[in-house]
Order: sequence, then C-alpha cells, then structure tokens
Amino acid sequence: MSLAGTAPNPLREGSVTLGAADPCSIVVFGASGDLTRRKLLPALYRLTRDRMLHPMTAVTGFARKRKTDEEFRNEASAVMGVEASSPDWTRFAGSLHYQVGSFEDPDAFLALRASLETGERLRGIPSNRLYYLATPPSNHDTILRNLGRAGLVHTAGERGPWSRVIVEKPFGYDLASARALNARLHEVFHESQVYRIDHYLGKETVQNILVFRLANGIFEPLWNNRYIDHVQITVAESVGVEGRAAYYERAGVLRDMMQNHMLQLLTLTAMEPPARFGADEVRDEKVKVLRALRPPGPADVAAQTIRAQYAAGATEGVVTPAYRDEPGVDPRSETETYLAARVEIDNWRWAGVPFYLRSGKRMPRRATEISIVFRHPPYALFRAEGCGEIQPNVLRLRIQPDEGISLSIGSKSPGASLHIDPVRMDFNYLTSFGADPPEAYERLLLDCNLGDSTLFARRDEVELAWEYVDAIARAWQSEGRPALAYYACGSWGPPEADALMARDGRAWHRL
Ligand code: BG6
Repeated sequence: MSLAGTAPNPLREGSVTLGAADPCSIVVFGASGDLTRRKLLPALYRLTRDRMLHPMTAVTGFARKRKTDEEFRNEASAVMGVEASSPDWTRFAGSLHYQVGSFEDPDAFLALRASLETGERLRGIPSNRLYYLATPPSNHDTILRNLGRAGLVHTAGERGPWSRVIVEKPFGYDLASARALNARLHEVFHESQVYRIDHYLGKETVQNILVFRLANGIFEPLWNNRYIDHVQITVAESVGVEGRAAYYERAGVLRDMMQNHMLQLLTLTAMEPPARFGADEVRDEKVKVLRALRPPGPADVAAQTIRAQYAAGATEGVVTPAYRDEPGVDPRSETETYLAARVEIDNWRWAGVPFYLRSGKRMPRRATEISIVFRHPPYALFRAEGCGEIQPNVLRLRIQPDEGISLSIGSKSPGASLHIDPVRMDFNYLTSFGADPPEAYERLLLDCNLGDSTLFARRDEVELAWEYVDAIARAWQSEGRPALAYYACGSWGPPEADALMARDGRAWHRL
C-alpha cells in the first residue's frame, strides 16, 4: 500500500503510475445510475486526463436503457460540465462505450464479451477486466451469475490476464444477506479478485489516520488507555435523504453509515500497528478490532444507543421538512436518520476507553471528525492557583471538510495573573499541500487496477461489522428498544444524545 508521506502516492506522483497501471477494460454495471454519473465517470475522466490509467484503457457502461456511444458520451460531458471539444475530454470520450443489455439476459453478456474481445484485439491489449457493480444489491446475483456463465471472468492466480470486481455498498442488508452475497461472489471470483468498496477508505484524510499514528514517534506511545480518556467520532451531514427514500427507508443510518464508514474510522483509529503495509496485514489488524468490540446485548443497546429522526427545521439557513414529509417516505416512518452510540473495545489497549459515535443527516453542517480526548495530567498543579478546571488536550483529526489535524493545548494567557486557556496547533491540507485532497473514487479505481486491495474491505471484515450492527438492529426492533427521539433539522441531534454523554460526565465537542 502506498500512503501519502510514507511511500510514493500514485495520485500525487504521476511518474510512479505512468506505466504502472495495467491496460484493461472497465465495465460499469448500472451505467445510467446516479453513482456512475456523479462519481465514477468523473473519477475515470480525471484519471485519464492525469494519465494515471494506461492509455489503452477502455470504459464500457452497461445498462438497460437503449442509447448510443455518442449519447452516453454527451450525457457524461454535460453532467460533468466539461467542454466536449477539449483535448482531454476527446481523449477520454474515445475510450468510452455503451452496451445496452438487461442484467437478466445471458445473451447480453455474450454480446458484451464479444465487444470487449474485439476492442482488446484492436487495441492490442490483454483481456484484463475490471467489473464495477454500481447497481442495487438486488441485481448483484444475476449479474454475477451471468458474468460467470458468459466466461467473462478469468481464474485467479493464473498467469495472464486478470479479472477483478468492485462491489458498491450497501454490501448486503444484514449479516445473512452479506454472507449470501459473499458466497455468490466466491462462486465466480476468488477473494483476491473481490474489491468491496467503502469510499471513506479512499479519502486521503482517512488514510492519513494511520500515517499520522505510525509515521510519527510521538503519538503512538500515548495512543492507549493510560493517556486517552475517550474518543469521539462524528459523521455529520447537512443533506437530508435527497430523493433516496426507497433505499434509505430500509437502511436507516445504522446500515447506511455505521456498518461501513463509521466502523472503518473506528478500526483505523483503534487498530494495532501492522507488521507490514500489506493488504492482509492491515486488514488483519482491523479485523482484530472488530472482534474485540463488546457485543451489545439488548439492555446495553437500550442504555447506550440513541436513535432519532429529523423533524422540520432549518438547515444552513434554509427551511427543510421533517424526514416523514420527504418525498417517498412513509408519513409514519420509524427510520432513524441519526444515531449516537457508546462503543467499547475489549482489549489491552482500549479497556475502559469509550468510543462515542454519532452520525446524522440534516445537521447544521457537514463535518466528519475524530476527536481523541486525553486524560488530565495526574496532578492538577494549577488548581491551587485558582485556575479552575483546565480543558483536556484534544487531538482532532478533521476528515472533511477543512481537512486537517489540530491539537489543543493549555497555555498561559498573557498577563500578570495565571489564566490557562486552550490554544490550537493546526495543520491544514490546503495550506500545507496547496490543494484539496483528491476524490476518493479516483484512488480506489486506481488501486483496483494496480491490484492493491488494502483500501477495500475483506470478507471477514464486512461480516464482523454486520455482526455488530445486527445486534443493534435486533435490539432496535425489540420491545425494550430506546424510543425514537427527534431533532430539528439544523440542530446537532436530540437532547437524549447529550444526556448519553452527560451520564459519563462528558459532552460532545462543538464542531
Ligand atoms: C454514502 C451514504 O455511503 O455516504 C450517504 O449512502 C451519505 O447517505 C454518503 O450521504 C456520505 O459520503 P461523504 O463522502 O459525502 O461523506
């Protein structure tokens, strides 16, 4: 794995990647979907423009809707707002194709195979294939079966061309469905060919959690229950359900954010240093954290989780409706759009250090942050001087936006009397590196091409995350579940979440 600062970063140092990426055919299933339009095509365009992909790479969008290559290209350039006559776009558009077909139709897959083989012959490249399942999970089975039947997947480990598959989230709905999907994937692909995406792992700041911890000598010795009081992980969004009610009504915040993104942030914060930066070594350590999560019984869930839904209010100055009044949402919906949870990790390093997680939609602003709150010094020397309570040191890893890291320290305020105030030492990506971090999907698509699965979730990782989340989901459906709380759009969550912290003598950090 190449992480910024420890090894060459392919997204920064073009020369590393030029020639490193294999020529391949990329097939995106679900080409008419929102994800393809908003994330995948722009990422592939930028990778082509920046010459990160091999020049002989071709991209085929596969979907039901009938359209020509030309229409597909024009739609893409319009969505991206790229000038269709620009040389960069022309080069990308030349590699962009469209294949009409239904996921259920085996003949459409045979046609896909024929067109891929023709293209590869003409371009003089091996038949390396990257399949991207940007489709709802209900389509995965059929697509996988037809890919296998049409002979579109090369066996893993063979010398010669490779086949890989990227699977978008949601990866299942619960443990049982995730296991079933894994079993289906393994009928066609070997685990080493499967890339389960969690786009948070593609974020530069998320990768930097490990660099920050392990490339510096001064933090890791403090990174344990002797020095850390507790950890707060916040993933706040100002957006609402945004027309995705059909999906979100079933998923809710627990499946949409906690099973994947939040647990990824937690494992990277809590894991032991791996012996090597290899995909398996890193993921082995993350898996150990998931195994160490204290399984929440129904009584723990009732006491240590808060489930809430947004009520009408104003977000970023705009009046926004209650979740139940959003288009497509059941007016009596009990779906959670916010959760807060107190999570414990039963291992040597973290025993007694609670991790408080919270995530919600329609919060005052978009902010993802991990706060490491340190213990007070063992002896309050300055209290006798009338300084009162001194704020603990807090290390804030700002994942997005305003990406950076800050450490608050107590400092003497200038003057004759002794006043201690918190001040901040701050690192900001934009000012230090002169640019915002690149888009997560670029990094992940490139890593898959390079055969590096470090930033993708392994089978056991996904299943353990589901095991934990399922325990909460089950308890949330049982009789003794915590009542659904409400919070106004534009607020930081319900009072119940503040009470959860107050019970432990703590408070959520203001973001
Ligand atoms: C997605 C969720 O996985 O992540 C969305 O389905 C959420 O509901 C999104 O809005 C958040 O991603 P980001 O990168 O904007 O933090």
